[in-house]
Amino acid sequence: MNNKNILTGITTTGTPHLGNYVGAIRPAIASSKEQGHDSFFFLADYHALIKSKDRDSMRQSCLEIAATWIASGLNVDQTYFYRQSDIPEILELNWILANFTAKGLMNRAHAYKAAVDENDKTDPDKGITMGLFSYPILMAADILMFNATHVPVGQDQIQHIEMTRDIAQRFNHHYGEIFVIPEGVIDKDSSVLPGLDGRKMSKSYGNLIPLFCDTKTLRKYVMKIKTNSLEPGEPKSTDDCLLFDIYRSFASESQVISMKKELENGMSWGDAKNELYELLDGHLSEPRLKYDDLISNPLYLDQVLDEGAERARGIASSNLAGIKDATGLGKLS
Ligand code: TRP
Repeated sequence: MNNKNILTGITTTGTPHLGNYVGAIRPAIASSKEQGHDSFFFLADYHALIKSKDRDSMRQSCLEIAATWIASGLNVDQTYFYRQSDIPEILELNWILANFTAKGLMNRAHAYKAAVDENDKTDPDKGITMGLFSYPILMAADILMFNATHVPVGQDQIQHIEMTRDIAQRFNHHYGEIFVIPEGVIDKDSSVLPGLDGRKMSKSYGNLIPLFCDTKTLRKYVMKIKTNSLEPGEPKSTDDCLLFDIYRSFASESQVISMKKELENGMSWGDAKNELYELLDGHLSEPRLKYDDLISNPLYLDQVLDEGAERARGIASSNLAGIKDATGLGKLS
């Protein structure tokens, strides 16, 4: 085992979009190819259950997300790629950690607080499950189970990493240095890819570009990107230019320079959109073929995830044995 472990979970809700790819999938896969550490990437389906209670969309999203990671180039033999719900040790650890988690700490979690704030003052608990309330404990179990040292996440998840550190420190303070204290890593690119309207690309804003839609649909989305009303021939600035920002996250340095020049020389928005479409399609057409193939082969995806879970469980069960032993749970002899 390496002593640097990178771990991140992907909540299996929704369909992967370009923002997920640029912000999370692409950098995670790139870092997994570097030497000197182990990478753990998992489908956080128990976390998805907190939000999604629809069986079909739950399965569909798992299928799409698993296929997306593999089609995007994840090497499943050199990483640990698994489904959270296939590792029962995580839930055992979840319970142990719950006993080192102050209720007051959970009261402060942003997601829980936001749900309370949305409720009428007369019924602050309305619609709030224990799943939502305890969400950060499960996330701590995901992380601490594998002694993760580095946890790449979006800015909105940093509070959960702080909570994980807090929970791990309490445990360690009581029983000795059992857990590694993880660090959150915010990817610089993670929140920058704007959606069609210029806000962060997100399902809830309805402004996303799907990652592996067919080429015609991709073209349609690109044409919908918001621009200003400058006419062909008029010089266009690349500052605060949505189209250029998306272009830049896929283009090479020389492509970026030449696109900037062309816009400044008055290239029309229509032509610029065409260039962006060509660029995206060029990058996505090969993985899209793989994706389509994988999506129609859930049996194969299950096999990959089963193998990943088996390897991950090897680590989880041995770590859990140490944790239980430290607490006095388990065998007497
Ligand atoms: N809650 C994270 C999100 O919504 C997903 C997640 C679950 C996660 N468990 C994790 C991320 C552990 C990092 C580490 O983005």
